[in-house]
Amino acid sequence: MNAALPIARWNRFIAQFTEAVDGWNRRPDLDRGASLLSDLVARDDWLPAPFALPDSRSYRQYLLHLDPRARFSVVSFVWAAGQSTPIHDHCTWGLVGMLRGREASQGFHRRQGSLVAGGTQILHPGDVAVLDPETGDIHRVSNAAETASVSIHVYGGDIGRIERHIYTIDGQRRSFVSDYSAAHVPDDWPGSLPQ
Ligand SMILES: [Fe+2]
Repeated sequence: MNAALPIARWNRFIAQFTEAVDGWNRRPDLDRGASLLSDLVARDDWLPAPFALPDSRSYRQYLLHLDPRARFSVVSFVWAAGQSTPIHDHCTWGLVGMLRGREASQGFHRRQGSLVAGGTQILHPGDVAVLDPETGDIHRVSNAAETASVSIHVYGGDIGRIERHIYTIDGQRRSFVSDYSAAHVPDDWPGSLPQ
């Protein structure tokens, strides 16, 4: 077995995603981004174990790569059984690629000052979902598996630093900045990370 192959898939993803973003003048081409992410999550053999470690206290969000110009970031979300996010938005575009386990995303939209629940999308390994603030991206994400789940997210900008919102079901909204979880980054990890 050639151990270099899985990380080559990650490197190719970053190179191709960077090239795609280079060509996005006004609007992101989320179909193209989703296609690239779909290729990455088609195989679950490249993510180092420190980026897939769950924590019993809360879900984890490990920064894997930050574009040197902060045009996009790539994050692994890791869920222990039973964990979920608050209802939140993103204030930027996002792509979610399911790598391991199963995840449920329940959509919400705002109506007359409150929130109305929409449908729930279940993601299985290899699936990719698009989050677009222009068409509505308020959701709550839950681990829908009995074991840990891992999904790979790509966002426009440095998502851990972007001011966005958490909602209560009665429509109250407050600002939050998610930050990233501390990770033991492997010495040979090729992703670009802030110092
Ligand atoms: Fe989200």
